[in-house]
Amino acid sequence: MADSVTLHYVERGQGTPVVFLHGFPFDHAIWQAQVAALRDSFRLILPDLRGHGQSPVPAGVYRMELMAQDVFALLDDLNIERAVWVGHSMGGYVTMAALRAAPERIAGIGLVATHPLRDPDDRRAGRLATAENVLTEGSGMVAQNMIRMVFAPGFDLDSPPARALFDLMSRTSPLGIAGAQRGMAERPDSVETLRHTRVPAVVIAGLGDQIVDPDVMRQMARDIPHGRLVEIVDAGHMPMIEQPDATTAALREFIESISGD
Ligand code: MLT
Repeated sequence: MADSVTLHYVERGQGTPVVFLHGFPFDHAIWQAQVAALRDSFRLILPDLRGHGQSPVPAGVYRMELMAQDVFALLDDLNIERAVWVGHSMGGYVTMAALRAAPERIAGIGLVATHPLRDPDDRRAGRLATAENVLTEGSGMVAQNMIRMVFAPGFDLDSPPARALFDLMSRTSPLGIAGAQRGMAERPDSVETLRHTRVPAVVIAGLGDQIVDPDVMRQMARDIPHGRLVEIVDAGHMPMIEQPDATTAALREFIESISGD
């Protein structure tokens, strides 16, 4: 496909194909607990989105449509026509772009700690400033800013999972961070996309999320015609890490309900 890059990915298991998309500025490793728990039940495909993890880091603006196209190209290479897409935060924005581009290829969507709203002006300006600054100051700056926000209040930032996530963010390339920030700044509102989709959905919301307002996620779940909401207490923006068992259980139940497994 024109402009798409060949993504690094991990694949485990057999059965209903399920794509897991990480948020910004992470990589596929955030889904480690879900892979361990679900690999015996489904075919799991975990790409690193462009600019993240071990995938190529092209210059430019990573529009959500472009990142979705990269994932479709990967699925083409794997001969997968239709899959369940699970997207965390930015991965959810990519999932919404995929839903606009080729709904017939999407069997269901898991929206984890994400939302459909376009950025307000101040948020967009902040993203463009970060995209500039990260190129001179490095990714550590972004990791420092985000680590205080990603977990629910009270989460031990010296704990092994917090340290691992900090290291992961610090390793993400500045060029990748800039591309993703610029792409997110340009993303359109997806409310209408979700209101009109026929694809079943589960929204997984950490009630301590300090990045995405849980009320916005509740509204998103209400707006999706075949949507359901799973609220996870004692989790913030990273429920797959903070409450892995509850997150996995919600995803398993959802995937089984649509695949008949
Ligand atoms: C993410 O986790 O992907 C980001 O917080 C999304 C965003 O910056 O909007």
